[in-house]
Amino acid sequence: MNDAAKEAWSHLGLHPEPDLVSLFADDPQRLALLSTRFDLPQGGGIQFDWSKTHLTRDLIKDFETLAGAMGFADARNALFAGEVVNPTEHRAAEHTAQRGVGSEASVEEAQALHQRMKLLVEAIHEGALGEVRHLIHVGIGGSALGPAMAVDALARDLALVDVHVVSNIDGCALEEAFKACDPQTTLLAVASKTFATIETMTNAESVLKWLGENGISDPGGRVIALTASPEKAVEWGVDETRVLPFPETVGGRYSLWSSIGFPLALATGWDDFAQMLEGAAAMDRHFLDTDGAANLCLRAAFADQYYSRLRGCQTRAVFAYDERLRLLPDYLQQLEMESNGKRVTADGEPVSGPTAPITWGGVGTDAQHAVFQLLHQGTNLVPVDFIGSIAPGDDLDPAHHRILLMNCFAQGAALMAGRKSDDPARSYPGDRPSATILCDDLDASSIGALIAFHEHRTFANAVLMGINPFDQFGVELGKEIARKIEMGQETFDPSTTSLLDAAGMGNA
Ligand code: F6P
Repeated sequence: MNDAAKEAWSHLGLHPEPDLVSLFADDPQRLALLSTRFDLPQGGGIQFDWSKTHLTRDLIKDFETLAGAMGFADARNALFAGEVVNPTEHRAAEHTAQRGVGSEASVEEAQALHQRMKLLVEAIHEGALGEVRHLIHVGIGGSALGPAMAVDALARDLALVDVHVVSNIDGCALEEAFKACDPQTTLLAVASKTFATIETMTNAESVLKWLGENGISDPGGRVIALTASPEKAVEWGVDETRVLPFPETVGGRYSLWSSIGFPLALATGWDDFAQMLEGAAAMDRHFLDTDGAANLCLRAAFADQYYSRLRGCQTRAVFAYDERLRLLPDYLQQLEMESNGKRVTADGEPVSGPTAPITWGGVGTDAQHAVFQLLHQGTNLVPVDFIGSIAPGDDLDPAHHRILLMNCFAQGAALMAGRKSDDPARSYPGDRPSATILCDDLDASSIGALIAFHEHRTFANAVLMGINPFDQFGVELGKEIARKIEMGQETFDPSTTSLLDAAGMGNA
């Protein structure tokens, strides 16, 4: 960390810690300062309310100084210009170009690849591959979490094709999909950036076998490959016309916008996919063009850094008060923990403080009746994000949605205000922070903006910590050891050896 950043952190550490209720009392402009509406170009918008966090004008000023010292503006420009921002792999990170915001050449390439995908999606809808009612999408991590979330959120009522995302190598996962699909009308999407991930390739082989055993004479003719390694897909046997490539510079956990989003386009039609890209692009432009804490993603990162580095919070929680976003916490776990769960800086030096907190969460109101006890009265301070939608996703009695939102807002208010009691067991300390993201509606465009917001928040956090959010070497060692176990080559510690023996997988 450079001297200016160290200086900024030491200033930040000197701030008093007034409680949230007095912060509101002391600054009548607090809501206006920290709660901001983001308008979407297609209509509608999203309210980002960070007023129930401990951010103050003074803290923000010092965080802006920190951002300057860490070269935030240059790092952001480098990201959008397609420069190398992933130094350990000597790569750019060009997911925004998929949304039309980036270097001209990369945007043009993305548009051409999208056009190819659009033609295939439309051809399938028109019957080019026969009657298609189901899609089994096999992929894992970034090749599964994004499409699973987007399809679950947006294809509930009007799915043109019924999508089953299968990631787990445990055959029980695939068997569940088989039960729900008719082989005569099922396509297989194999989603893998590397086209080499053992879970995905094993699952793909099993789907082909299942199709073959169930009367499909040419199972290979049912496969669509979504990959940054098109040559490997062709080698594996996928016809080139059904390979939808994406650039190597799009990272796995940032790849929903590329051909990895194919299941959404197939399930809801191309227009929804395009609108999701547009919503994300609107957030890209906001992130690129807005300075200081008016930049919503940077503002959120200031709060994240405050809680993690200055208040010692080891976790942050996300609660989706909308069933359509039930998979969002899982998606954010990979985005944030795989990106920023690092222990060295981009220069390879040990980091000077904690990096990504553990992201966890669930859906409201279920989580209220399970884990909120700890949030209200436990000894851990957990900053919480609540995410909801003003418009309901259901057609039932409006009471359902009213009760849902009422609970969402009540939790934020209760966490902040608390309530004293003479009985310690019934006392709520309060002063517990939360942010609320409230969409007018959960449509493709607002979901695109919501995800892009979190991508840029993650990037902004990485810049403030000086780390590279675009590599993930931490996942490699376990994979390597699994390969060694498979080859029976290695000797292991006594515990692992005895487990292998117990499962009949040892060398003994
Ligand atoms: O092992 C982690 C990881 O590399 C993730 O970063 C990635 O999203 C996932 O595996 C799947 O990789 P692929 O898309 O290459 O199959």
